[in-house]
Amino acid sequence: MIKKIGVLTSGGDAPGMNTAVRAVVRTAISKGMEVYGIRRGYVGLINGDIFQMDARSVSDIIHRGGTMLYTARCPEFRTEEGLDKAKAKCEELGLEGIVVIGGDGSFRGAADLSARGILCVGLPGTIDNDIACTEYTIGYDTAMNTAMELVDKLRDTSQSHDRCTVVEVMGRNAGYIAVNTGIACGSIEVITKEVPYDLDALAKKMLEAKKNGKQNFIVVVAEGIGNSNEIAKIIEEKTHIETRATILGHVQRGGSPTVRDRVAATQFAHYAVGLLEQGIGNRVVGMQKGEIVDFDIQEALAMKKPYDIELHKIAEEIGF
Ligand code: ADP
Ligand code: F6P
Repeated sequence: MIKKIGVLTSGGDAPGMNTAVRAVVRTAISKGMEVYGIRRGYVGLINGDIFQMDARSVSDIIHRGGTMLYTARCPEFRTEEGLDKAKAKCEELGLEGIVVIGGDGSFRGAADLSARGILCVGLPGTIDNDIACTEYTIGYDTAMNTAMELVDKLRDTSQSHDRCTVVEVMGRNAGYIAVNTGIACGSIEVITKEVPYDLDALAKKMLEAKKNGKQNFIVVVAEGIGNSNEIAKIIEEKTHIETRATILGHVQRGGSPTVRDRVAATQFAHYAVGLLEQGIGNRVVGMQKGEIVDFDIQEALAMKKPYDIELHKIAEEIGF
């Protein structure tokens, strides 16, 4: 039986990370374990920025965006020396297991630490939903709702000026936020890395739609494409429709988590502490067909996540 665990958040923050931290702490305490908060991800683990948490340490955070444990990127943790320091710190404090809330990079670190005998369980936390072993990641729903609300606002001004709005949403290497935002906001086009795009064809489609009475346009671009300003310029040149580009940026990472994020974060966290309690580490928790499941970290990292081509096709088919 594992009696003493830590919890950290690592990589980009995501709404719902606080909810997950709360659930880790409360689950651990309810199982009679001691639980420690590690600040700023692997940086705090190496430097010993670690404190014991009780039930009240996580009061009033369930609804807050960001992460009360702070987060960071830690190049040192990728080195043997950094990993050895982290392991020594765990041994010094008697930490036998750690819940790591983050993305693929954080899970790579968790696998390395697990290989050194510290049991780590990863929870998928990223707005991008780009973790292959799980259909859902903490923060995704909130980010999409934020993007949708903001694009709705852009629609108002786009409508008033008979303009085209090119809006870039987050997703470093993934078009999941883009395609869902496009569907939810009635875009004429969604541009993601996963599907080839053709700006000549888009211009033609816009001009035909204009002939048919359409007065304003929304084009959603995934961050991974990387040149929304240029795309806006090309659209304007080809269509002579006044076009503006807006990059939504980090505002999508903030805000109070939605029900979906709070419930998923709580389920993942509860399950993760259950694994550690049984002495099981080197796992990533995920969701498959709505069920909470777990995978070996290396296996999880080797998986590929399919892009929802059907959803993309629907967006194309009805955007005119
Ligand atoms: P995310 O977890 O969101 O994918 P990053 O890729 O920035 O975010 O990774 C977060 C942290 O995880 C890194 O700063 C580093 O400390 C650790 N990490 C990332 N990749 C590795 C790796 N290959 N080996 C060990 N640790 C890693
Ligand atoms: O992974 C989440 C994410 O917000 C991506 O969508 C984006 O590309 C990246 O993080 C931005 O990272 P940073 O916090 O370093 O600007």
